[in-house]
Amino acid sequence: MTILAIETSCDETSAAVLNSNSKGHIELLSNIIATSLPMHGKTGGIIPENAAREQLKYIIPSIENALRGACLTIGGIDKLAVTIGPGLIGSLLVGVETVKTFAYVLDIPVIEVNHLFGHIYANFLDKNAKDIEFPAIALIVSGGHTDLVLINSHNKFKWLGGTRDDAAGEAMDKIGRLLGLPYPGGPYIEKEALGVLEDKFNFPRPLINSNDFDFSFSGLKTAVFRKVSEAKNLDKDTIKNISYSLQTAVFETLIKKTLKAARKYDAKSILLGGGVAVNQKLRKEFAIGIVNSELDIALFVPEKSLCTDNAAMIGAAAFFSGIETPWQKVDANSELYFD
Ligand code: KG4
Ligand code: ZN
Repeated sequence: MTILAIETSCDETSAAVLNSNSKGHIELLSNIIATSLPMHGKTGGIIPENAAREQLKYIIPSIENALRGACLTIGGIDKLAVTIGPGLIGSLLVGVETVKTFAYVLDIPVIEVNHLFGHIYANFLDKNAKDIEFPAIALIVSGGHTDLVLINSHNKFKWLGGTRDDAAGEAMDKIGRLLGLPYPGGPYIEKEALGVLEDKFNFPRPLINSNDFDFSFSGLKTAVFRKVSEAKNLDKDTIKNISYSLQTAVFETLIKKTLKAARKYDAKSILLGGGVAVNQKLRKEFAIGIVNSELDIALFVPEKSLCTDNAAMIGAAAFFSGIETPWQKVDANSELYFD
């Protein structure tokens, strides 16, 4: 079976072609990602209407490139998969309406995909995916989300907790702006923190010891703002030290809560997903945290290009869901969550 998957929930326009063989193994044939990020860099953040207008330009060329990359024509596609939410409504509609049109013209089925499930299923595109055992704990850390999810079997998800305010990536992006770094701040904060060895600022770790699986990152902004105001001039060293201390505070909280969930639910695997999972330090600290916890648990992290938004992960989630929706009923839902 061959799927054409589309992802347009935020500022990326992505199309991917995936194939499954008789053993159910998924093969990724192409994964095209067009981004309007440089445009948002100029405004210091995403203006939703601008993002959707760019996606209207990119969507058909992205599909053409994905088909070309897979050496197929549209006639070779058996099913369509599309992100229906959560995300920016104008952006979601670009993907959803395009897919509905293809489904109508080609008379092929559509599988609706929750973007958050996509971030989890990016792990199932990994060459070691066969080693993923349930129960698993998934941590989605992106610019829009910070969620802990228990997975008992495919598509049996239980949301355990999430951020009460800013997502981890959002906090890093906002603080990046305070530090005068380009947008999005996450990757620049990672670069600035390189070579620093001491947690000089010891920023607060809200909710780190709370009894639930929630997070809170908005207070970090205030704490950094105070340090930036105190510093007479924001020199290179201060930016580097703030970046290091910020990463340490955010990652320590993420790792502690994830391991707490893993212990409670006797998890066999931890699956990371979302743009912040690109961060090399987070990956390293997670591996160290697991060793120190003495839990018998395996860590899975998608390759970097599959952590940030992409259509391949949407195709992977569609393979495991398999639930088809008549094109007339396919609908975008910007508020979709883990229900
Ligand atoms: O998953 P994603 O592409 O979009 C959402 O669904 O939100 O994630 C984007 C987020 C941004 O906040 C960005 O700063 C963050 O991922 N990010 C990083 C790194 N690369 C991307 N954060 C920390 N370190 C990185 N290397
Ligand atoms: Zn995402």
